[in-house]
Amino acid sequence: MTKKRVGVLISGSGSNLQALIEACQQPDFPAEIAVVLSNKADAYGLERAKLVGIPAHVLSHKDFGTRDEYDAELHQMLNRHLVDVVCLAGFMRILSDGFVARWHDAMINIHPSLLPSFKGAHAIRDALAAGVKVTGCSVHFVRAEMDSGPIIAQAAVPVLPGDNESKLAARVLEQEHKIYPLALRLFADGKLTVSDEKVVISAS
Ligand code: GAR
Repeated sequence: MTKKRVGVLISGSGSNLQALIEACQQPDFPAEIAVVLSNKADAYGLERAKLVGIPAHVLSHKDFGTRDEYDAELHQMLNRHLVDVVCLAGFMRILSDGFVARWHDAMINIHPSLLPSFKGAHAIRDALAAGVKVTGCSVHFVRAEMDSGPIIAQAAVPVLPGDNESKLAARVLEQEHKIYPLALRLFADGKLTVSDEKVVISAS
């Protein structure tokens, strides 16, 4: 089995990265993490990668004049590590249209809401403010518009009486850690096709 090589982009704790690391450690998992890149030097996810011997680098936007220059270097680093698929795992930086186009149907994101509801950086807070009784998380192919693109997998999470942002976020994260490896496995097994901007999952 030739494993798909994954580049994971992070900005913070990297608990989703951890879930992907653990999935990739299973011998029959069809993907391996080739490199972890962070736009933040203090992202704990960098430590998680180093602990298991995965190359991990910081790419700070402060070292680049424009978004295009930053994204060009990001692209080069991913290519240097022979990456087949990019996984955004709490990467809190907008990517240029050119970068998104280069990784069309080969870049996946996880977002803590049932898309297309509650896009943006405060999905959990926004769900609580709206008073929805069910929220959740989504894994999707990345398109130029933030938190949009064909949906690969979703999980629903009930909003409970007495929930606050951190309690609800923790329960949503538990589900994220299940559906991200699942979505990556489907991708790496070649089971996903995009038709009319919708994901079709093949059964065989
Ligand atoms: C996760 O909840 C992820 O869905 C969210 O950031 C968190 C990162 O946690 N991403 C977004 O909101 C993207 N719009 P982690 O660093 O522990 O994986």
